[in-house]
Amino acid sequence: MRKKVLAGNWKMNLNSKQSLALYADISAALSSNKEFDFIVFPPFLHLKELIDSRGFIEIGAQNFHPELNGAFTGEVSVSQIKDIGIQYALIGHSERRTLFKESNSFLKQKVDAAIQHQIRVVFCCGEPLEVRENQDPVMYVTNQLKESLFHLNSEQLKTCMIAYEPIWAIGTGKVATEEQISQMHTAIRNELKSKYGQQIANEISILYGGSCKPSNAKAVFSCENVDGGLIGGASLEPTSFVELSECF
Ligand code: PGA
Repeated sequence: MRKKVLAGNWKMNLNSKQSLALYADISAALSSNKEFDFIVFPPFLHLKELIDSRGFIEIGAQNFHPELNGAFTGEVSVSQIKDIGIQYALIGHSERRTLFKESNSFLKQKVDAAIQHQIRVVFCCGEPLEVRENQDPVMYVTNQLKESLFHLNSEQLKTCMIAYEPIWAIGTGKVATEEQISQMHTAIRNELKSKYGQQIANEISILYGGSCKPSNAKAVFSCENVDGGLIGGASLEPTSFVELSECF
């Protein structure tokens, strides 16, 4: 059966010492639990140091380039993150999509590169405000999945997780309503079921992300088909990350 997941996206925050301290603090306060996957996504520069002292909290990359090597100044390749022992990666975060113009077809290449390197994908999807207000957000999100993820076969897909993050809720303090969250997560589960069958659909963890914090997480995590959270701001503070783990 699928696991509960609590993931922290540290984005472009924390220096090396602060990253190590945050990892040590949350490791000391949480305990390893068979039903949970804990994952943090630190900035690139701190990955190696953290991997070398890693405990039960998994360490993932926020980004990578799908080519193995070559003339891509400033990029870090899928093989380079694999080489230092990375086993998880975010793909399709809305900040990559909007600020760095990553398209569904480029994200598909990243998904394939990750799968080839046995890196578990946390695939992010979510609609902008304009789509939420004037169009069909479920269609928009399922299209993101169809164009970048659903070419995988069942065995490959089983290694992935999906994170639904409405763009208008990220870093804004504006969390989606329980109804909006349940509706989208159930629609995603149903899409998985119609493409891959009930058994595979039941094995995929679907996380919610967007202004999730201890004060609203109990309500969010109890929504239908929500298996955990991808947390930005509140993952930078050890006590709030630990409190979030108590909200399931
Ligand atoms: P937030 O970020 O929790 O700060 O809204 C979530 C994310 O971007 O993954």
